[in-house]
Order: sequence, then structure tokens, then C-alpha cells
Amino acid sequence: MPLPTPNGQSNSSSPKTGGKVGLPSHIGLIMDGNGRWALKRGLPRFEGHRRGVEALRQAVKLASELGIKYLTVYSFSSENWSRPKEEIQDLMNLLKKFIRDDLENLRKSDVNIRIIGDREDLNLDIRNLLIESEDATKENKGLNLQIAFNYGGRQEIARAVRRIAKEVQDGHLALNQINPSLIETFLDTVGVPDPDLIIRTSGEQRLSNFLLWQSAYSEFVFLPMNWPEFNRAAFELALGEYTHRKRRFGGLNTVEAVE
Ligand code: FPP
Repeated sequence: MPLPTPNGQSNSSSPKTGGKVGLPSHIGLIMDGNGRWALKRGLPRFEGHRRGVEALRQAVKLASELGIKYLTVYSFSSENWSRPKEEIQDLMNLLKKFIRDDLENLRKSDVNIRIIGDREDLNLDIRNLLIESEDATKENKGLNLQIAFNYGGRQEIARAVRRIAKEVQDGHLALNQINPSLIETFLDTVGVPDPDLIIRTSGEQRLSNFLLWQSAYSEFVFLPMNWPEFNRAAFELALGEYTHRKRRFGGLNTVEAVE
């Protein structure tokens, strides 16, 4: 099936005012099922996460090739700290390895990296790597890759509320200035459009604290395969499904699908 191009490239109508749904400009990925993938094969959970990184690498490449503007990937949630110490360490090490091994390639591929989430609880070496990856790619204009690491939607909103309250307390902001547009400027995702499509693998059908504020009008596609099995065919299936959705954003203007 030929896929349309991202919104704003193939058609001039914004999805909020009606018109055809092209490819999503922002996709969120909940990369679930690494553990189950490993368990089914009698492998340690770490092997599932390692294969998960390979699937992530491929997803980034496909998104770039398709001209998707924003991709946000859920790599480590605020709640993942409740996992065994060894698994937490494995996930930290995989993030470090991913940045060390892939940064140069991502930089050359015009990928712009932003890390969202709370950095305070992370070790200094990881925090420095996160800064390095953002600095090295900040001029890039291709795919914007947001890596959600130590991220939780509720925690992100709580951090924003705390900062807004401080502005009010210091007299820089009046209460009647607080509205959704202002709140957005205090979120980690400031400047990034809301996700059009959120894909979750592993058959689970929930958001698990991912982009809670931003997903108010997202479309969801739940895929049965575990994350390490995610590939081009799965990506195209999810995109095909998305292009047939009718998006109304609470209004009456039906956005017709691209045939
Ligand atoms: C969910 O699978 C996945 C995660 C908690 C981590 C996602 C991480 C990766 C894809 C690899 C790491 C990538 C980077 C950049 C660090 P699960 O462990 O919850 O699987 P299960 O539900 O089957 O146990």
C-alpha cells in the first residue's frame, strides 16, 4: 500500500480544520514486551531489551526515511525503578551504549535528539551523555527523536505545576494567565506538536503514564507483537490503520481518510 506523506507536505489542510489525514507528523512508541519476547525463547530479560534496542534503531531509520517529523520513544518510565536492581542497571547501560554507538550515525542522519523526563535521579555519567547527545545534534533538521527516559506523564505535569506555582509566587505570572497553552510551555515537550499516533506493542492496551497531557487527541494503534519483533511491516500496518481514522478533535469537522 503506498503511504501518503506527512501532514503539511502532501496537503495544505490542517487536521484541526478538516481535510485528509496524511502520515502522522508525531508518533509515540510504547516499546513493550521485551521481557515476554525473551521469556518465550528461554532467554534472559536482558536479551529482550538488547533486541529491543535493535528494533528501536530500525524504527528510527524507518521514521526518518518516511519523513516523519517527531518520534517519541518510551525507554524507561518513572515506575521502572521498581524493577530488580540488575534490570535497572541493564537499561541504564543500554541507554549509554545506544548513545555511544549510535550518536555519530544519528548526527550524520540529521536526527535531532531531545531527552524528556527527570534527570535528577540519574547518575552524572548518564546526565552528561544526554547533554552530549542533545548538543551534538541540536542543529539537525531531520527527524526529531525524543527519548523518554526516567519519564512519567504525571511527574512531568507535577514538575510543570511546581514551576508555574513558583512563577506566581514570585509575582511573574497572574493566576488568570494559567491556561492550557501556558501549561504546555512548562512541559518537557515544549515546542513539539502533540502526538498524532501512539503505537504500543505487546497487545497491552494502556498508556502507562506516557505523554498523558499530550495524548488528549492522539490516535492509538495496539499491535500484538512484542517490541523486538517490531519491523517495517508492523510500522506500515500501524500507519495504514492511522490514515483510515477520522479525527474530529472534539468538533464536527470529520477528517476524511486518504484512500
Ligand atoms: C518494556 O518491556 C520495555 C521497557 C521497560 C524498556 C524499553 C527499552 C528498550 C526498547 C530498550 C532500551 C532502549 C534504550 C534507548 C535504553 P518489558 O520489559 O516491560 O517487557 P514485558 O512487559 O514483556 O516484561
